[in-house]
Amino acid sequence: MDSQRILRYADDVLGGPDEAERSRLAAMAEVCDPTTTRILDELGVAAGWRCLEVGAGGGSIAAWLADRVAGLSAAGKTVGGGPVAGEVIAGEVIATDVDTRHLTELVAPRLTVLRHDITRDPLPGGRPFDLVHARFVLEHLREREAVLDRLRTWLKPGGVLVLESLAGFPVDSSPHPAFREAMLGIEQVLAKTIGTDSTWARRFPEPLRSRGLVEVGMTVHLPTTGGGNASARCWTLTLNRLRPRIRDLRLASDAALDEALDRLADPSFFDVGFATAIAWGRAPG
Ligand SMILES: C[S@@+](CC[C@H](N)C(=O)[O-])C[C@H]1O[C@@H](n2cnc3c(N)ncnc32)[C@H](O)[C@@H]1O
Repeated sequence: MDSQRILRYADDVLGGPDEAERSRLAAMAEVCDPTTTRILDELGVAAGWRCLEVGAGGGSIAAWLADRVAGLSAAGKTVGGGPVAGEVIAGEVIATDVDTRHLTELVAPRLTVLRHDITRDPLPGGRPFDLVHARFVLEHLREREAVLDRLRTWLKPGGVLVLESLAGFPVDSSPHPAFREAMLGIEQVLAKTIGTDSTWARRFPEPLRSRGLVEVGMTVHLPTTGGGNASARCWTLTLNRLRPRIRDLRLASDAALDEALDRLADPSFFDVGFATAIAWGRAPG
């Protein structure tokens, strides 16, 4: 078994091209996109912005951004300065992922999909951005602090960085023992196989403030899991995918995993899973 190897997200731990992963990403988007787009809207994302979507997954946020920034912005209205008087600036989105197989149908004017490893590949497109957004990516990377250093340098003066990350704290207090055991199994198996840290985001927004960002803020999204909703579907698919590794590492009993899956399929079951901690900040200038 490969539990002795240092694995990464896309080493068939999560990710991959199949329909179950496509459905998992779609369910994730259904749960999280309304909150993400509300925050991006409140941060002023508008026509003319140049945006980087890191670890774009199924591409729903990249598509939303492409629609939002597609127009031209008059000089002086983009963030970060740069344009000269009278110039108009066309918006642009670059959507990156180590695995772009769920992004093949993502086509829009001024949207580029790029196969790109955020831990080591150079600044996509060669120029800094008005917005850099990453959701559920850095917590899965052992090099998250170095990646954040890189993302910080990829902002224009005045550019905005938005990070979203799993936060594990609500699971401990679940009143449903089997669900709690299964969710902690997910948390621990990801920590032990790929180095996921679901406690990192509990310190938000400090990682942004300590990198010199200003107008820093944060919020927490705590989706209800149950009633047969998209969150329940997402955790069912995640649990099915990780179950063999959870079993190999003896992180939860088969009985608990079976019961948790039954609960997630039960329309009368309600609980909360992991939270999403969301932090943002602006580069001075
Ligand atoms: C949990 S999914 C989140 C997808 C999407 N951001 C969302 O929230 O709907 C994590 C994504 O990060 C990508 N990813 C993992 N490691 C990466 C890396 N080193 N560089 C770029 N993307 C990476 C995965 O391929 C996957 O699409």
